[in-house]
Amino acid sequence: MSLHVSSSVTKRFDAEWESLLPIGRDSTTHGYRRYAWTPADFACRVWFQGHARERGLTVERDAGGNLLAWWDDSVRDRSEAVLTGSHLDSVPDGGAFDGPLGVLSGLCAIDVLRERGIVPKRALAVGVFTDEEGARFGLACIGSRLLSGTLALETAYALRDAEGVTMREAMIAAGSEPDGNLALHDMSRFSAFVELHIEQGRGLVDGDSAVALATAIWPHGRWRYVFRGEANHAGTTRLTDRRDPMLSYATVALAARQIAVEAGGLATFGRVLVEPNATNGVPSAVHAWLDARAPDATVLEALVDSIAAAASSASAAHGVSLEVTLESSTPEVRFDSDLRSRMAGALRAAGCAVPELSTGAGHDAGILSTSLPTGMLFVRNKTGVSHSPLESAEHDDCLEGVGALATVLEDLLCR
Ligand code: GLV
Ligand code: MN
Ligand code: MN
Repeated sequence: MSLHVSSSVTKRFDAEWESLLPIGRDSTTHGYRRYAWTPADFACRVWFQGHARERGLTVERDAGGNLLAWWDDSVRDRSEAVLTGSHLDSVPDGGAFDGPLGVLSGLCAIDVLRERGIVPKRALAVGVFTDEEGARFGLACIGSRLLSGTLALETAYALRDAEGVTMREAMIAAGSEPDGNLALHDMSRFSAFVELHIEQGRGLVDGDSAVALATAIWPHGRWRYVFRGEANHAGTTRLTDRRDPMLSYATVALAARQIAVEAGGLATFGRVLVEPNATNGVPSAVHAWLDARAPDATVLEALVDSIAAAASSASAAHGVSLEVTLESSTPEVRFDSDLRSRMAGALRAAGCAVPELSTGAGHDAGILSTSLPTGMLFVRNKTGVSHSPLESAEHDDCLEGVGALATVLEDLLCR
């Protein structure tokens, strides 16, 4: 079958994947902690640059730390170039595949095309986009937002992590001087972007296909809820005298579940900070982050408004103050239908008809879809679990992903 990947590309994929696996993996949870501009993230970037240069690719970094590795030796210029790639940072205790699979598949797709003797008419770049997960600075997809022009460089540099460190300071500490004189990569020279990514739900688990095409991404966002009450002694403060923000938060967490069920969306409180975090004290404050997603913007807005209303009444009931701040939002994405048909056609011609899926997961491809025709390939996730160390994909499925990406890129580079 034409998506077949040779044993030498397989060997290279395996060796490079193995060399990435130890970087940033926590020895207790076995999950990844590759937060933007930490030594683990930086080591992943070094890994990428090394393997790109071994292939003779030219690596360029921009002011936001986005990396592009260019395969352009057969072309006169970089106009109408094709972009692939993904991210290397992770959520707290993330899986191995979310992001890196797309980056390594991009490099290995070049190996496949070289073996096939392909001489591209257009340049290809494999990208690594800065801080897709937003685990450190709160805002998701920082690198691709910079590239799409929806985030200003100075705003990104001034973002602060939980310790108050700015992104500019974090970049300097990581040895990557933020250089305002460096331009951001120019997206106008690209004619298409194709991101390969592990599927993050059960969309392919029960089917026959290892690969799917993405149709759409649900609109989604993150809101910070701060409930402030009064710290007091757990053993002496009468229940009726308490102003306990934990009770307001707990009420809202339960209400959010019910509201999401009724609205047909998703609502998650996955991160909570309690002040002062004492076993024998009524807390003074609870900071909780809501992640909300829905099939369309109207449903999302209604869902988010209802949760905020539930938080207001739960706060009033407990004498607690409430602040809600939007930290990150991404509108609904519908991937370019012409590009999708073209990708499906190239795969069909290679003997592989693939299903189509929409997703609730956010991606750099979603952000960049506002700048250029964008498509995505998903690779089957055998556990259906993601943002967890249990995330997993079969070796054969990953290689089929490499073959599918190479097939799609060949069509885009040569036609
Ligand atoms: C990223 O993976 C997200 O969907 O938040
Ligand atoms: Mn992710
Ligand atoms: Mn991802």
